[in-house]
Amino acid sequence: MKITIFNGSPRAEKGNTHFMVKAFIEGAEKAGAVTNNIFLSKKKINPCMGCFTCWLKTPGICVFKDDMPTLLSEVLTSDIIVFAFPLYVDNVSGQMKIFMDRLMTLADPRITKDENGESRHQKRYDQPSPGVVVISNCGFPEFSHFQVVSLLFKRFARNLHSKVLGEIFRTEGELLCHKRLLLKPVQFKYKKLMNKCGEEIVKNSKLSLKTKEALKKPLVPKDFYIKEANKYIQKRLTQIQSKPKKV
Ligand SMILES: Cc1cc2nc3c(=O)[nH]c(=O)nc-3n(C[C@H](O)[C@H](O)[C@H](O)COP(=O)(O)O)c2cc1C
Repeated sequence: MKITIFNGSPRAEKGNTHFMVKAFIEGAEKAGAVTNNIFLSKKKINPCMGCFTCWLKTPGICVFKDDMPTLLSEVLTSDIIVFAFPLYVDNVSGQMKIFMDRLMTLADPRITKDENGESRHQKRYDQPSPGVVVISNCGFPEFSHFQVVSLLFKRFARNLHSKVLGEIFRTEGELLCHKRLLLKPVQFKYKKLMNKCGEEIVKNSKLSLKTKEALKKPLVPKDFYIKEANKYIQKRLTQIQSKPKKV
């Protein structure tokens, strides 16, 4: 089984998203998958111009000469694709959105109906579409912040003639790479849970109920998180205010 991860965090290897992805990959590889981890921020991906050339003039081929053809072939040769990103303004990061728009090259513009009678475009290529896994983390402590992206990827997977096999959302994401010694056991436990997610997706193409329940637990209690986050922010702001200003 081949899994390709598209990581849309501009922080790449230094990001909290990568903490999750790295552990997911460990588990997936242990279960026998071959993985390919791609940082979108390191790729040249131009935003779609809406010219429809890839649909109506040169079917399947975009006007831009950038890294997308290689990324498209990664999608087409994968059994599972993972969309991994930090939550930005209740949504995907800009890097991820640009990538998602460009995946529309995979669709044939002719309109067809899905199993519920709702319109969508046909598939351009015959091979089965890869299953979709969503990995995201955010700064706030409530899972409600993922409402938009949860629906977004259900809709997006439908457009790809696929479905979401698993969604892995992490609140309080800023704790994942935090250096505080006190957080090490919390980070270790969460890493193990992400290992399990990778393993289960490879073995069963879904997450078990037990794992889904474990994913819903906070890393630290919500009120403690908010208090500590505000203390940290205040400290940083006080530091810059007390710095002498250059004239
Ligand atoms: C531009 C921007 C927008 C953000 N919007 C949200 C948001 O809507 N909700 C939230 O909980 N966190 C938000 N965050 C916080 C990030 O999701 C959080 O810092 C995350 O851990 C970053 O992941 P990364 O290190 O992988 O990039 C935002 C951060 C940035 C920079």
